Amino acid sequence: MGAPGILPIRLGLIGTGLAIEKLHWPALRGLTDRYVVTAFTDSSAEQSRRFAAYSGTDPALATPDRAVLLARDDVDAVLVSVPIPHLYEVARDALAAGKDVLCEKPAGVDTDQAAAFLALAAAHPDRTFVVGENHFYRDDLRYARALLDDGAIGRVHLMAWRHAVRSVPRAGNFTSTPWRHRPRYRGGVHLDAGVHHIAQIRLLCGDIAWVHGAVQTANSTIDAPSDLALNLVFTGGAIGNYTASYVDIPVPPEPNDMRLYGTEGVLVLGGSEAERRVTRSGADATSHTTVFRDIDNGYRSELVDFADAVQFGVRPVGSVAQSVANAMVVQRAFDSAERTAALALDPVPGAGPVPLWRPRGSAGLFDGLPGQRISSSASFAA
Ligand SMILES: NC(=O)c1ccc[n+]([C@@H]2O[C@H](COP(=O)([O-])OP(=O)(O)OC[C@H]3O[C@@H](n4cnc5c(N)ncnc54)[C@H](O)[C@@H]3O)[C@@H](O)[C@H]2O)c1
Repeated sequence: MGAPGILPIRLGLIGTGLAIEKLHWPALRGLTDRYVVTAFTDSSAEQSRRFAAYSGTDPALATPDRAVLLARDDVDAVLVSVPIPHLYEVARDALAAGKDVLCEKPAGVDTDQAAAFLALAAAHPDRTFVVGENHFYRDDLRYARALLDDGAIGRVHLMAWRHAVRSVPRAGNFTSTPWRHRPRYRGGVHLDAGVHHIAQIRLLCGDIAWVHGAVQTANSTIDAPSDLALNLVFTGGAIGNYTASYVDIPVPPEPNDMRLYGTEGVLVLGGSEAERRVTRSGADATSHTTVFRDIDNGYRSELVDFADAVQFGVRPVGSVAQSVANAMVVQRAFDSAERTAALALDPVPGAGPVPLWRPRGSAGLFDGLPGQRISSSASFAA
């Protein structure tokens, strides 16, 4: 919720492609008390027209380029949603123009640019600068994290997660964008999609101390490794394995769920975007499942947290440092694969354990948020 007397943030959009259409606009249009779009730009005039048409935004608010948009006094903050190789330069220009910045992930095309993102944030302490990570805000994941914080499964000692999907170009889907077929960023799909999974792992299992990665290339539609097998040792002592595969042939239905094994129970996170499920089982062989429907993978709450940071000085959960920490796990995994060695991960300054986001001023997890949560119990004793 906004606050009486506080005007919505005047937002400029830089890049109005698929992420805006499918993820950000559906959230923004429900947050009119927090945001009003006052300008937008895209290097493709066609994309600008498309955005104006489906969103109902005045086409006259389109600017020919980002310099014109950034020079406008009626833009307080910008949402940067351009292809990964251009994120840094656009965020840099926006901060130099005095804007608050919510930049899409990942934080850097490689290790050097990840460091440059950190330096950029340090050079602009007076601005709100976030590199987005919507998984930090996903209701099912925050619920699972709260359970873990409460000791619901005891001490987590093992994490296991395999994510295997078919990935071929499909019209209107993220897989259709040519810049993803020949990625000019190290890690390819494992940096693009993988940082979200790493964020989930860090949110639930804590920071990672050691990685041992191996990669394979087995997707003819992507000029980069399709497979990543990653062994992890967490700073808290737990161990884990994350295997991600994006192949070009159909794969039979796979659960793709994440399992956390604790000394007193097991937590299973599964389901699809339409219906997320968190199942906790205990030593008495009963399981408790909470189903989450009509949640949006965290985009709305991410925008709310950014607005709270801009308008009320709240420290955002999705800081640049946290996003760098996510990206660095992928970069170290690729270092490890190249060197065929287990490698330590240096702590990222300013990151540390991922904080658990709650709506501002609320002790609860879901106060004022949309979505349905339905719980049930069962026994799986033989
Ligand atoms: N958080 C998530 O779940 C999520 C999901 C998908 C994409 N993303 C991120 O969103 C960003 C955009 O991805 P997408 O799938 O929308 O790509 P896209 O190609 O569909 O959209 C990018 C748009 O930016 C425009 N563009 C390119 N260079 C530009 C520039 N210099 N200035 C202005 N416009 C420019 C393109 O014309 C295009 O319309 C990427 O950084 C990606 O990592 C995040």
